[in-house]
Amino acid sequence: MMGRRRSGGVAMAVAALLLLAAAAASASPASTLEGFQPLSKIAIHKTTVDLHDSAYVRATPALLGDQGEDTEWVTVKYGWANPSADDWIAVFSPADFLSGSCPNPSRYPGEPLLCTAPIKYQWANYSANYLYWGKGSIRFQLINQRYDFSFALFTGGLENPKLVAVSKPISFKNPKAPVYPRLAQGKSYDEMTVTWTSGYDISEAYPFVEWGMVVLSGSGAAATAPARTVGWREPGFIHTAFLRDLWPNKEYYYKIGHELSDGSIVWGKQYTFRAPPFPGQNSLQRIIVFGDMGKAERDGSNEFANYQPGSLNTTDRLFIEHCLSTVDRKHQPWLIFAAHRVLGYSSNSWYADQGSFEEPEGRESLQKLWQKHRVDVAFFGHVHNYERTCPLYQSQCVSGEKSRFSGTMNGTIFVIAGGGGSHLSDYTSAIPKWSVFRDRDYGFVKLTAFNHSSLLFEYKKSSDGKVYDSFTVDRDYRDVLSCVHDSCYPTTLAS
Ligand SMILES: *[C@@H]1O[C@H](CO)[C@@H](O)[C@H](O)[C@H]1NC(C)=O
Ligand SMILES: *[C@@H]1O[C@H](CO)[C@@H](O)[C@H](O)[C@H]1NC(C)=O
Ligand SMILES: *[C@@H]1O[C@H](CO)[C@@H](O)[C@H](O)[C@H]1NC(C)=O
Ligand SMILES: *[C@@H]1O[C@H](CO)[C@@H](O)[C@H](O)[C@H]1NC(C)=O
Repeated sequence: MMGRRRSGGVAMAVAALLLLAAAAASASPASTLEGFQPLSKIAIHKTTVDLHDSAYVRATPALLGDQGEDTEWVTVKYGWANPSADDWIAVFSPADFLSGSCPNPSRYPGEPLLCTAPIKYQWANYSANYLYWGKGSIRFQLINQRYDFSFALFTGGLENPKLVAVSKPISFKNPKAPVYPRLAQGKSYDEMTVTWTSGYDISEAYPFVEWGMVVLSGSGAAATAPARTVGWREPGFIHTAFLRDLWPNKEYYYKIGHELSDGSIVWGKQYTFRAPPFPGQNSLQRIIVFGDMGKAERDGSNEFANYQPGSLNTTDRLFIEHCLSTVDRKHQPWLIFAAHRVLGYSSNSWYADQGSFEEPEGRESLQKLWQKHRVDVAFFGHVHNYERTCPLYQSQCVSGEKSRFSGTMNGTIFVIAGGGGSHLSDYTSAIPKWSVFRDRDYGFVKLTAFNHSSLLFEYKKSSDGKVYDSFTVDRDYRDVLSCVHDSCYPTTLAS
């Protein structure tokens, strides 16, 4: 999905429309782009147990997050006398995966022994020379998800798993610790929401955020905002706090915490953010755009990594039209459109084979709206690569310029920014006229709006952070403002 990270705030200068946040589809024919769910290949209900004295699995360290870390690397050593290429190491959480009873044993022939899938796994031969020595060592990255962990050695592949050894459990020092706060813009420019998870029910501990303005000398006055517990899912509680009445453009620190009944406080880590500027305030704005992060594990293991289908229907189009028409270009001089699927242009090989270079009926009705409301740049993901077009309308470049646009922008520039981390997608070999720059690599876009009329666009590769494609827009802002009242006419291609 499209992600944005702010530094310096974004709300005022850039109106970004984010929709179809749902991740990429596996239902569409474009699913050849997508992976499968590795854990679904494990026939866990067919597991048999055949513990061997010679077999062992040991995980270190036994205590994780000793210094308050919420993520830790664990080394798992294992071995036995009968190594085979079919052997695999599973990570279970909660650790006690053997004693749970299966919900519906009658569904399977014979009573299944296991119905808890591991959270991830790795082939035992991932460790060099495992087949030769019958010994291996693999590092797994674990995050604090409120339960302990255990590791198991299976043989028989994923289809006929046979459990041969289990490790002792290991766990985080405080499995309930508040972790992973996420920021989201509130309903107005001066409100920020903080959402996090913990193992503390509100009856057990009072959840809050301590926050205050970052003051260079002396200490800033701290305020606290209580959190509502908005949902519960196993495992953990989800808390959201609202930080209100923020000063525009000021830097704040915040720290999540839970006050226990004995008055002691369990703290999360401290972070900072900058509040958005006042709407219309002339200020420097920067945003980062990337799509399709993928969910590949840093430790290379196999885990849950499925995609959910997205959809676009009439309701969404009405929403888009309403959203575009309520944009106030006085306060939102730059208009950025973003959607997960390609509703604009992509020379990705699958779309090219369809002859459409887009999702079916993607731009059909939208291109009139983009033109009418003078959308500056439109971003899409779903296709896992980078591509930038000329300013376009109805599949025609409306400018021969490639990198320094000035004066009236006569069309929208379309960008595929899907190289966030998922496996990469191919292009068609013939390059369409409108395609200015393509890069089959991981990367992201940085947009800098200096003021109402000057914008810098940069595409950077994730590997070195260097700029590989860029353009600037220096436009006449009055031209955009003239669209405010009755909107601009969609220009034709007559010229
Ligand atoms: C390890 O075993 C798996 C499953 O049998 C196999 O797919 C993979 O290619 C093997 N890898 C190595 C490095 O031997
Ligand atoms: C269209 O989208 C709306 C909300 O996004 C949803 O409630 C509705 O069921 C969808 N209709 C179809 C036919 O998919
Ligand atoms: C937009 O179109 C006008 C009229 O054809 C042209 O003079 C101008 O250069 C175009 N703008 C850009 C940025 O290409
Ligand atoms: C906008 O910013 C650009 C780049 O910093 C600068 O050259 C230009 O003069 C500024 N324009 C206005 C109207 O402030």
